[in-house]
Amino acid sequence: MSSPPAPRPRVTPPSLRAKKARGEPVTMVTAYDYPSALAADRANLDAILVGDSLGMVVLGYEDTLRVTMDEMLHHARAVSRARPRALLVGDMPFLSYQTSLADAIRNAGRFLSDGGMDAVKLEGGAERAATVHALVDAGIPVIGHIGLMPQSIRALGGYRAQGGTATAARRLLEDALALEGAGCFALVLEAVPDRVAALITKSLSIPTIGIGAGSACDGQVLVFHDVVGLQDSLLPRFVKRYASLLEEAQRALESYRQEVAERRFPGPEHAYPMPDEEWDLFRRDLEKDPPARLSKKAPVAW
Ligand code: KIV
Repeated sequence: MSSPPAPRPRVTPPSLRAKKARGEPVTMVTAYDYPSALAADRANLDAILVGDSLGMVVLGYEDTLRVTMDEMLHHARAVSRARPRALLVGDMPFLSYQTSLADAIRNAGRFLSDGGMDAVKLEGGAERAATVHALVDAGIPVIGHIGLMPQSIRALGGYRAQGGTATAARRLLEDALALEGAGCFALVLEAVPDRVAALITKSLSIPTIGIGAGSACDGQVLVFHDVVGLQDSLLPRFVKRYASLLEEAQRALESYRQEVAERRFPGPEHAYPMPDEEWDLFRRDLEKDPPARLSKKAPVAW
């Protein structure tokens, strides 16, 4: 008889770096609750990001700027209850780390101590190096995020690809090197020309994880709802949809509503049976001694 498969070891920041060294792609997806975390972990993804995209795809906000630390922690805890083997990364929301180093350490620490996360991610380039340094000093593993930074859409003038000019590409490379130097163990590159992402990837010893940054990155990340088709808004160019769960859910709910309206659901197979002898006893008892409130009404229709 074959023995059950050995439990898969948990993914850690060093094991992601080791993947880069071996030339193996790092796989990451967002998740925001218990079932999406279970699905991601059963699909054997390396890392699960509780992204602040939560604000848009789950909470229905217009952008990510309104997401609070408490909302992030609420969802982080749900994800961690799935006890995945994947590395769990909490996304630092707007103004949870930009205000001071002390705020950054306190809020990042909450992701680890209260939210069940293994690491945090934050947006920003060289200007965030001191923050990354302080978090790493406090024992908190950090992933950086440069290129299109959704928390800076007001400054960037909207959701636009970044690093498309020689000056901007140079700035991105310098940001990447500064974040690596500050202690990040991985770096997300969002909406960056693929040749710029490839050069950054070759220049770093930490893995780059691309989203709209081409195939030369060390890994890829996408938003759960985009991958499985749980939203029908216009998708950015870099998204590939692998299923249409929103349509599937709508179809299922339409069938349910129709069957209830036509009394085709529930069927006998969905009901709990009662033995005939108990039913007869019940009936005789009611006929002999009906409840006072019932006897005032019309006789029971058997
Ligand atoms: O919040 C998020 O989902 C992200 C990823 C898309 C990288 O930051």
